Amino acid sequence: ALRQSFALKAQKQNQNFQYQLQPQASYKVTVLGAAGGIGQPLALLVKMSPLVSALHLYDIANVKGVAADLSHCNTPSQVLDFTGASELADSLKGANVVVIPAGVPRKPGMTRDDLFNINANIVKTLVEAVADNCPDAFIHIISNPVNSTVPIAAEVLKQKGVYDPKKLFGVTTLDVVRANTFVAQKKNVKLIDVDVPVVGGHAGITILPLLSKTKPSVSFTDEEVEQLTVRIQNAGTEVVEAKAGAGSATLSMAYAAARFVESSLRALDGDGDVYECAFVQSDLPDLPFFASRVKLGKQGVEALISSDLQGLTEYEQKALEALKPELKASIEKGISFIHKQP
Ligand code: NAD
Ligand code: LMR
Repeated sequence: ALRQSFALKAQKQNQNFQYQLQPQASYKVTVLGAAGGIGQPLALLVKMSPLVSALHLYDIANVKGVAADLSHCNTPSQVLDFTGASELADSLKGANVVVIPAGVPRKPGMTRDDLFNINANIVKTLVEAVADNCPDAFIHIISNPVNSTVPIAAEVLKQKGVYDPKKLFGVTTLDVVRANTFVAQKKNVKLIDVDVPVVGGHAGITILPLLSKTKPSVSFTDEEVEQLTVRIQNAGTEVVEAKAGAGSATLSMAYAAARFVESSLRALDGDGDVYECAFVQSDLPDLPFFASRVKLGKQGVEALISSDLQGLTEYEQKALEALKPELKASIEKGISFIHKQP
């Protein structure tokens, strides 16, 4: 009798879980690079989303097992695997959101820009397929160097005649996640409440946390600002060094990317109150792309929150001026990579 009562309880819990998850699911998400260090935990987190009905996993190898494994989770989305270039188009047809973590990660001593030669081609090829098969999808670029791979993606989409700047995003959510964590730790405030906008780009000094705009309002000494800013800028390197040759951030990145996917799906679903930072097309002079806080809507970026750049502290204003030349050069490198193609 006891066994039966446990079985009944488990069945009920299971039904409740499914009941909560099933009615809303309707979006298709494709992950390109799904068998990798980021791809696998990201796929797991997206599999848990109540908004996803189809989860397509693409990689050049090893994706069959990942999909078989995930497909046993009793959440609503159907998981399908796609391996190699001949299956890329099918993985993308009908996708609402395409996430791209395909490419090589850093080892100690490397900069993100050192990944350019390999990852530029990977991103180019994958975005060409996105343009051909799901040009209306939101595109989330994770592959580094983001400051160059996003401009590469934009040029590819332009060449294909399907560029919609409102739907192309470099994923910088991890910078915000880190900033929130480090600020909450340092100032002993409740983590769940902390929100620090991080603007600029996604490499070294181009990552600019606007600590003065932290919500709820927190005051920092000059020393705290310096320490926190440098830690947030070097947090990727902190992980690369700790992993000592085994790659860069994967788990925190998957968490951050899943948050950005969920925000995008909520926006697509009509939620009118979705804000995230992302590296998007900008209207700043000389910087065609710039990470900003954006309001997301059904059509992608509904508004750039440019007021974040007003009323900066002297420290932030100086850091903003200092990052511009590097960010500009990285963007130009991406753009000219496409125009130099034979
Ligand atoms: P990884 O090597 O573990 O995984 C990469 C995956 O990409 C592999 O499964 C590989 O097979 C796949 N891949 C390679 N070429 C491909 C192609 N042409 N098509 C499809 N898939 C392909 O690397 P990782 O740790 O997952 O990191 C991936 C990328 O994400 C790196 O460039 C890394 O620098 C970047 N990254 C960005 C952020 C960010 O904040 N934006 C954070 C962490 C890592
Ligand atoms: C990160 O910020 O963790 C990623 O960009 C990976 C890296 O190379 O640091």
